[in-house]
Amino acid sequence: MVHVIDHPLIQHKLAYIRDVNTGPKEFRELVDEVATLMAYEVTRNMPLEEVIIQTPLAKAKCKMISGKKLALVPILRAGLGMVDGILKLIPHARVGHIGMYRDPESLKPVSYYGKLPPDIQERDVIIIDPMLATGGSAAAAVDFLKERGATSIKLMCLIAAPEGIRFFEGRHPDVDIYVAAVDEKLNEHSYIVPGLGDAGDRLFGTK
Ligand code: PRP
Ligand code: URA
Repeated sequence: MVHVIDHPLIQHKLAYIRDVNTGPKEFRELVDEVATLMAYEVTRNMPLEEVIIQTPLAKAKCKMISGKKLALVPILRAGLGMVDGILKLIPHARVGHIGMYRDPESLKPVSYYGKLPPDIQERDVIIIDPMLATGGSAAAAVDFLKERGATSIKLMCLIAAPEGIRFFEGRHPDVDIYVAAVDEKLNEHSYIVPGLGDAGDRLFGTK
């Protein structure tokens, strides 16, 4: 299932993120802010448990997050740009890393690194990557996690192409996708149009 998070603050900041005139410093800050805002929606269904808290006046019945623990798993490089924004809200989440780049010829994901928390099978996992283009990288990241026992997985992106959503849902129908926008299409190089360009290059100023 695809959840489009259309909150005005997110849409406003996404417009600046897309802007070709936004440089790496502002791009990084905006991606970080949008990741924080999106984290509200992505964590909406976290289970709560009742706890009793002593206030200065009386005992209060309160609610706190219970259940399984969380792991954030950015896909390198560009996913890194969204990690700190989520950690601001969930500072005790563990962070795994999956290194993957898209081969420019075949467009297939090439895996070069993987490091996960050892108890990944017991955690709710949020995979983070700003771009879902063909969907190959995100689908391969989910394969990697499922092979290591993860069963509760969500995918969080800034922008998705319809083609990538179809491909990803075909491979992993059990994984919900959270995006700020679904764009028009992929171009002949499988870049998202209108998109924001190359997310990694824009974050790190490598172009
Ligand atoms: C980008 C992006 C995704 C992938 C999306 O990474 O961050 O990981 O492309 O494309 P796909 O849906 O067609 O697989 P890229 O391969 O440019 O690597 P980088 O972040 O290291 O630059
Ligand atoms: N990767 C990006 O960074 N941008 C796209 O539009 C497609 C893949």
